[in-house]
Amino acid sequence: MTDKIITSDGVRVYYGEKEAIHGVHIDIHEKQITALIGPSGCGKSTYLRCLNRMNDLMPNTTVTGSIKLQGEDIYAPKVDVVDLRKRVGMVFQQPNPFPFSIYENVAYGLRTDRKFSKDEIDQRVEESLKQAAIWDEVKDDLNKNALELSGGQQQRVCVARVLAVHPEVILLDEPTSALDPISSSKIEETLMAIRKDYTIVIVTHNMQQAARISDRTAFLLNGNLIEYSQTKQMFIKPEKEETSDYLNGKFG
Ligand SMILES: Nc1ncnc2c1ncn2[C@@H]1O[C@H](COP(=O)(O)OP(=O)(O)O)[C@@H](O)[C@H]1O
Ligand SMILES: [Mg+2]
Repeated sequence: MTDKIITSDGVRVYYGEKEAIHGVHIDIHEKQITALIGPSGCGKSTYLRCLNRMNDLMPNTTVTGSIKLQGEDIYAPKVDVVDLRKRVGMVFQQPNPFPFSIYENVAYGLRTDRKFSKDEIDQRVEESLKQAAIWDEVKDDLNKNALELSGGQQQRVCVARVLAVHPEVILLDEPTSALDPISSSKIEETLMAIRKDYTIVIVTHNMQQAARISDRTAFLLNGNLIEYSQTKQMFIKPEKEETSDYLNGKFG
């Protein structure tokens, strides 16, 4: 048995009057990879953004229900959202490095905390770039502007930027869908390598990717959670007909 690091229950999200997520219950297990799959528009990104309160940044968005990180309500008034987003980091579909050097991109989250010395920052930058499988490509060029890198390299720098602050949970929203196959597989390898230390939640519309890398899979459809189980079980013997139809490509 593994521990649950995030519990969520009865999660509803409204964009204005429109309810996009209808009472979703998903618990995230510690040091596992959880994949969220389902057709475009089913609410994967919307649900993912609830987990570090990214929806707060979107006008007219309301989230109800319960979401707890290590047993604490992340929507409680006393929660410091900046701190929450360090504990629950995020990587987006489009690589979004800052227009700074590679080094400063990865050091960014550490600079805001005065507790890190120069040596510690150097060490974290190296460690994170290594974990993100890009150190060898950039180690002699750390002062280069991150925007000069290829898209795949930029995305790995974004992964390193999140890893540098040692988050408890890492959220990734289709992190490889804008990348070439080689860069995609490097990201997948990174995720599988860091799973022993980190809890990962990944949105993907690529079912093969979910099957390859995840421990658990949640299947969403029209804002509802249809099925949530161990990935192997879902892909071999889904419980619901809708899941089976989706996995068999009957709709997409
Ligand atoms: N910012 C927004 N404003 C209004 N509606 C939105 C917004 N973002 C998403 N939606 C709607 O919410 C539903 C779920 O979208 P989304 O979470 O982006 O799905 P997915 O990530 O699975 O493709 C869709 O109907 C989408 O049109
Ligand atoms: Mg999405």
